Amino acid sequence: AALLPPPGGPGDAAGQALPVESRPFASYGSALHIALPQAPRAGQLLTLLIDYEAGEGPGVCWLSPEQTAGKQKPYMYTQGQAVLNRSFFPCFDTPSVKFTYSATVKVPEGFTAVMSATSWEKQKDNTFVFKMSQPIPSYLIALVVGDIVSADVGPRSRVWAEPCLIEAAKKEYDGVIEEFLVVGEKLFGPYVWGRYDILFMPPSFPFGGMENPCLTFVTPCLLAGDRSLVDVIIHEISHSWFGNLVTNATWGEFWLNEGFTMYAQRRISTEVYGLPYTCLEAATGRALLRQHMDATGEDHPLNKLRVVIEPGLCVNPDDTYNETPYEKGYCFVSYLAHLVGNQSKFDAFLQAYVNRFKFQSITADDTLEFFLEYFPELKEKGVDSIPGFEFDRWLNTPGWPPYLPDLSPGQQLMRPAEELAELWAADSLNMEAIEAMDIMGWRTYQLVYFLDQVLQKSPLPEGNVKRLSKMYPKISKAQNAELRLRWCQIVLKNNLEAEYSKVKDFLHSQGKQKYTLPLYRAMWGGSEATRALAMETFSATAPQLHVNVQNYVKKILGLAE
Ligand code: BES
Ligand code: ZN
Repeated sequence: AALLPPPGGPGDAAGQALPVESRPFASYGSALHIALPQAPRAGQLLTLLIDYEAGEGPGVCWLSPEQTAGKQKPYMYTQGQAVLNRSFFPCFDTPSVKFTYSATVKVPEGFTAVMSATSWEKQKDNTFVFKMSQPIPSYLIALVVGDIVSADVGPRSRVWAEPCLIEAAKKEYDGVIEEFLVVGEKLFGPYVWGRYDILFMPPSFPFGGMENPCLTFVTPCLLAGDRSLVDVIIHEISHSWFGNLVTNATWGEFWLNEGFTMYAQRRISTEVYGLPYTCLEAATGRALLRQHMDATGEDHPLNKLRVVIEPGLCVNPDDTYNETPYEKGYCFVSYLAHLVGNQSKFDAFLQAYVNRFKFQSITADDTLEFFLEYFPELKEKGVDSIPGFEFDRWLNTPGWPPYLPDLSPGQQLMRPAEELAELWAADSLNMEAIEAMDIMGWRTYQLVYFLDQVLQKSPLPEGNVKRLSKMYPKISKAQNAELRLRWCQIVLKNNLEAEYSKVKDFLHSQGKQKYTLPLYRAMWGGSEATRALAMETFSATAPQLHVNVQNYVKKILGLAE
């Protein structure tokens, strides 16, 4: 490392070399200590030059050609959230520090580089220059280098994908993105990031989506052919205000990013697709929260909105990625809206909140204090301490949310799915009633909701699932990833050995964490046969999985050191 002379001043252009030392910090990284020649004055600007190399590390993923869709060329991508970018470049790797960045990236012939940046320029020698002109936290810096091409899908949006996927990518989202941005701006204020582009990642990408500014990364599983999984895009767009503009200051309050984003996502969805459909989608989210709490136990310390993360306490910030910050967070924001009692007043509050805290990193205390200031009549009434619903309880008590938003406007879509699940759970099947219900016209999330109900009632009486499988190839042979996940879960819970190969095929086809872990948990909690299936599948697919996902699976299978 070197300390560069202040611009314009005298001094050696190469700078003054400084002693550097790496010190232990946590299981997920070490601290880089740089000794300055003298203690800096408060407010003094220092320029440090750090010469480094990024090699193996969880933040930078190097894929072989076989791990891409096209299978021709290698690919590299970075994933910063939560605390992985420290293995990509030296930084203050905390969401409480924001900065602009620029990068010059030279790639081999035949490759393209893209980054989460507001401007982008290709120069000679396969060199790309990027600049992010808005201050962002370290976890939002992202880079991809691969054989990728783009196609326009809106006035400020294009899709990026490997050449063999670009047609499908364009078809999936052509003409639909702009409306989400316009509705988002109407609700939450200006979109400050310039472009909103979407990059379809290789199948092993561990998330549904990642809100890298200007350029959302998504799993190729979203290419369902019918736009049915577009809620993920609306979610990532919503982070443009909640998360990327107003950011959680610590990963212990991750719900500030995700809970507000779930709320914003469902506000946009309500405006575009209506309340019944949005309530249906929210009901599938609530089912995920139920499954998560059942699996971990309601009292688990991670089932609080405010999680204590301190070095030494051995909670890795990445472990907070579960349904609690999302769906319990959503319930808390819905509760705040319920206290206000008027949607447009609450929308106005959200816009004021973004405006008040944009480009800053904040804690839940800041949020709630601002809420009470904005609604002095609620503060007067003491809404922060209503017995059973205390703000403090929301934040610090694990378990099921004390308030659930009313999803009954979705009943018209949920009721048939509930009825059909009842019919399939009966000891002797009423085929006449079953055949009378036509699922061909159902939306994907109606089918998802139906399958979650079936899963909840599983194991079903002997033979029922086999019949269900025959009767609905639309479900049992589905290509849609959300349906495949549920079908695999049902197959495992009902020991439908004839279809175990579908579990294997699904896990070979993609590596999303939220699909992978539940299936390994189900296999490990099942029979001899499903345990063997888990081991066999993991040893074949492990090299393709993101290292974090690999490690979580190892824990489930008892393979962790
Ligand atoms: N920011 C998250 C993904 C993430 C969380 C990455 C924690 C690393 C650590 C992203 O916005 C997200 O929530 N994705 C969801 C989408 C869903 C809720 C619609 C996902 O990947 O499933
Ligand atoms: Zn999110």
